[in-house]
Amino acid sequence: MKLDGLKTPYFVIDKEVLDEGLQNLKDSLESAWGNYIIGYSYKTNALPWLIEYFKDHGCYAEVVSDDEYRLARSIGIDKSHIVYNGIAKSKETFLEAVKNHAIVNIDAEYEIDWLDELVVSEASECKNEQYEVGIRVNFDLEERCPGHSQCPEEGGRFGFCYENGELERAIERIRNKGVKLSGIHLHKSSKTRMPAVYKAIAEVAVEIGKKYDLELDYVDIGGGFFGGLETKPKFPEYFDMVAGILKEQFDPQKTALVVEPGNALVASPIGYYTTVLDVKKTTHNTFVVTDGSRTQIDPLMTKKSYFHEIIKKDGSDNRVRLDKQLICGFTCMEHDHIFKVDNSEELMPGDQIIYQKVGAYTMCLTPLFIKWFPDVYLKDGDSICTIRHRWITENYIGRSSVNEE
Ligand SMILES: Cc1ncc(COP(=O)(O)O)c(C=O)c1O
Repeated sequence: MKLDGLKTPYFVIDKEVLDEGLQNLKDSLESAWGNYIIGYSYKTNALPWLIEYFKDHGCYAEVVSDDEYRLARSIGIDKSHIVYNGIAKSKETFLEAVKNHAIVNIDAEYEIDWLDELVVSEASECKNEQYEVGIRVNFDLEERCPGHSQCPEEGGRFGFCYENGELERAIERIRNKGVKLSGIHLHKSSKTRMPAVYKAIAEVAVEIGKKYDLELDYVDIGGGFFGGLETKPKFPEYFDMVAGILKEQFDPQKTALVVEPGNALVASPIGYYTTVLDVKKTTHNTFVVTDGSRTQIDPLMTKKSYFHEIIKKDGSDNRVRLDKQLICGFTCMEHDHIFKVDNSEELMPGDQIIYQKVGAYTMCLTPLFIKWFPDVYLKDGDSICTIRHRWITENYIGRSSVNEE
């Protein structure tokens, strides 16, 4: 949909789509398990308006670094409403989170060492049950679910390995410190995002629960779901199946199901609006140069196609047809090629190209290369408002030192 009067490039969040996605997720978790926690994955898109939105809608903050932890705290997220994952925690924020009963999933040996500080300094008498932590499980997804894992050769690098006994050893270490093991975290980033991955995750959770006789407050199956795409699996396909498996070992009354969606909630509602600036014909190509860039919507340079819409400035449908046009970005990188248009009417300066469903791992990974961050608007019904003003030089300079004569 074209928005008049706004200066491209910019992102637009469609609030109706965002609301609908979150509501579908909640309905599906409610019906599958009842007792659930949604930890919105900050890394996927931590735009301040978005993280505030998820807070206001009852979601916890899923954070994976001390910076993200502090960001969550800065918008008033309750300390106990943080899911603290990852390998970039600081000792200070880790201890604060454990003391305040956040969901903290241990992912490194040194974090187990850090628990000594809690036990020694604060839990001298009734140290058992005073504090609790979860642990990230590393299991062989490729073996259980061939073709789905991201690193089939090297295997996953997060968590403690179940198959070789490292997980058991780590659980023992935690228990020996008098800290309760309250949860297991089994997030797997997969190539496919298919329900089969979550079947494997749920089966491993049940196996581990039985084997180590775990009474858990939560099972955290992580993120990585599809959301908002007609042709892809919907939330009930994941959660009804996961619930059916988990119920063999866990009781929804006692054990919460934690999910950490990012992509499933924020990819679909966000579009990127650009304008054609120039058309350059060479002996090889017709380059359609836009004021957008691939760095803004495919910063890892891996996408092969985009959901997109082309809006011709004059609305015409009888322009000359060209065999091939290459849509390009504003940067000075030769390979800032966004996509190819085959056998189509020629594009002209002033035409708009809108990329849809680009809210995940885009804005948060975009480099400050050549141009600063663009505007972000919120579309709520017929109303449009700015939720991030495009950066200006002062934002870029920020906390840097500059020579003042
Ligand atoms: C631990 C963890 N949780 C949640 C997510 C969110 O994944 P997605 O945005 O694919 O839902 C990720 C992404 O890598 C992750 O590493």
